[in-house]
Amino acid sequence: MIVCDSLVKIYKTKEVEVLALQGLDLTVNRGELMAIIGKSGSGKSTLMNIVGGLEVPSAGRIIVDGQNLAEFTERQMVQYRKKQIGFVWQKSGRNLFPYLTSLENIEAPMLAIHKSAKKRREKAEELLALVGMEHKRGSYPAQMSGGEQQRVAIAVALANEPEILLADEPTGAVDTKTSSNIQDLFRKLNRELGLTIIIVTHDMKLAHKVDRVVMISDGKISTEKILKQHYRDMLDQLESPDMTDETHEEYSVLDKAHRVQLSDDMLAAAGIDTNKVKVRIEDGRVVIEAEEKKE
Ligand SMILES: Nc1ncnc2c1ncn2[C@@H]1O[C@H](COP(=O)(O)OP(=O)(O)OP(=O)(O)O)[C@@H](O)[C@H]1O
Ligand SMILES: [Mg+2]
Repeated sequence: MIVCDSLVKIYKTKEVEVLALQGLDLTVNRGELMAIIGKSGSGKSTLMNIVGGLEVPSAGRIIVDGQNLAEFTERQMVQYRKKQIGFVWQKSGRNLFPYLTSLENIEAPMLAIHKSAKKRREKAEELLALVGMEHKRGSYPAQMSGGEQQRVAIAVALANEPEILLADEPTGAVDTKTSSNIQDLFRKLNRELGLTIIIVTHDMKLAHKVDRVVMISDGKISTEKILKQHYRDMLDQLESPDMTDETHEEYSVLDKAHRVQLSDDMLAAAGIDTNKVKVRIEDGRVVIEAEEKKE
């Protein structure tokens, strides 16, 4: 559904140039529920903004649903942002109009799509029920908790029935329990609506509840973790098992030039502390080890 091909993003300011993405490759399948993790400044929001059509890459290609975003006219881009993508931001202030009620907030993005007010109201009621917020239909954002506002924000993002939901740290400002409820909601939307969802998060607990976790470091994907089938089945039965590191298998990602990135933990465990390693093939495996120390 989404193919990022050697994406590069350079921000130029008066004094400096920042290389936010450095040749990032990523493929997201239709109906996937995935998380992106990585240190502050690693390029996560930059990637989300490029996928959402809010920013243009400096080099590389982004293809969504077979369409190269670079080839869109301005009008097509506006349509793409409005209809194909739903956004949820960390700060609920960016998601909701303070002077509109929950229902009105959900109706607002539909103005461009549905002419009939009755139809908008029906659809808004439906979405409010989907996110479990019917009881707050007449409340203004300031009258709701952070978690409640985020649920309404998710309904707003879904108003125009997007195929892709992008959430940039949606649970950054709520407590653990609320965060867990929102995670379950993402999973439900993914399973029930077949929505493709990408969530940026710092929260490892949340990252453990998705099918795939990719880690960005220095503007590139470095490792991927894929949820083991056994845990996937348990989650689908909504038993909500305690997610630990055991639930996912970790993969390092080969880039186009066949380079692979190793984590600090791996290097430490293998006793590699210089920038030279020995690489050899052993029984069909690639073995990387520390260079022999000269006495
Ligand atoms: N508009 C901009 N102008 C200049 N530099 C920018 C701009 N936006 C982002 N950057 C820089 O690009 C790099 C990547 O930023 P980005 O916001 O994508 O990181 P992030 O992974 O989302 O971080 P965080 O976890 O803190 O949200 C950072 O070094 C940041 O300072
Ligand atoms: Mg960010």
